[in-house]
Amino acid sequence: MISSRSDSDRSRFLEALDFAGRQVRALVRRDPDFYPMYTREGRWRHELPAWTHWCDGFPPGIMWILCARGDDSWRPLAERYSRRLEPRQFDREVHDLGFLFVSTYGRWHALTGDPALESVLIQAGRTMALRFREKGGYLRSFVSEDSLFIDIMMNVGIVFRAAKETGDASLFDIAMRHCLTTRRALVRGDGSTAHEGLFDRETGEFLRQTTHQGFRGDSCWSRGLAWALYGFGTAYMHAGDPRFLRTAQDCADFYIANCPAGGVPPWDFDAPAESRHLVDTSAAAIAASGLLQLAGLVPDPLKGAFYRATARQILATLCERHLAAGDPHWEGILKGGVYHLHKGLGVNESVMWGEYFFVEALDRALRER
Ligand code: GLY
Repeated sequence: MISSRSDSDRSRFLEALDFAGRQVRALVRRDPDFYPMYTREGRWRHELPAWTHWCDGFPPGIMWILCARGDDSWRPLAERYSRRLEPRQFDREVHDLGFLFVSTYGRWHALTGDPALESVLIQAGRTMALRFREKGGYLRSFVSEDSLFIDIMMNVGIVFRAAKETGDASLFDIAMRHCLTTRRALVRGDGSTAHEGLFDRETGEFLRQTTHQGFRGDSCWSRGLAWALYGFGTAYMHAGDPRFLRTAQDCADFYIANCPAGGVPPWDFDAPAESRHLVDTSAAAIAASGLLQLAGLVPDPLKGAFYRATARQILATLCERHLAAGDPHWEGILKGGVYHLHKGLGVNESVMWGEYFFVEALDRALRER
């Protein structure tokens, strides 16, 4: 029998998931209760600077995904690593409570339906909503009150969730207004995105686009675009507003039209010649997972099939060219992530969110048949 392309993808994706599980187990054995962010020369280290503290949900998130796939041996670890994050439902220092809690308590709740877990998610949503700036209409970034980040589109979902669970219309209004402001201020007409928007503190007037992690204010930072592609799809799932679906598609179409063959972008779509060789595999992993989600949302089945096929192509490229399997010294799963080029943090390394969204995308792709 001749095996098809999708059969070979399937076995490649299963092997990659298996490898991911082995790498996470090795991390837990080597360094119990450590939540790393990025590697240095392939090693997870304690002493590396973080810039902001946003990644602790990803190791347990991977454990929950592997647990939900049927390997119950992950369960005690997933619970332990999640439980230690519980106090952060009140954390007002970061804009990342979706990253921290959807990947952990959200997945845990999906398995058990335990209302005590939902109440942690609700509190995290309420805490997140406290970041709302009435003037300007956005959830402020961790940097300053006049700053809006594209990344927050991945975290606003927890405010929508709290609104639905509590029936609190003011939470729904905050989440809606944040998405509409982000769409207006950070998503451009061609579907590309800016990393950050700055607003007048007094009047709330939108002033300009700028960046921290991208090449420059008018460039398209690749991971930011992937956050938008995925985040607007999620916002559409929560709110049903067709404007969010349109925006998610615009971002997806920009990503696909501007990516090199294989679907792994340079760290910034407008990166200058001297750093253009640096890819960001984490952007590709996020985009793959976001495209698989979007494929199930678009009404046009041909478009859905196109997004699905593109996501599988991205995953195949990641497995073929960027998996750390075969390098016994490398402690991460995916090579070639970039955290913060300008600060020199996690450049061409494994990054914990890349690991998580890669595993999530593999799981999504494998569940499709
Ligand atoms: N701070 C989120 C990111 O680096 O994408």
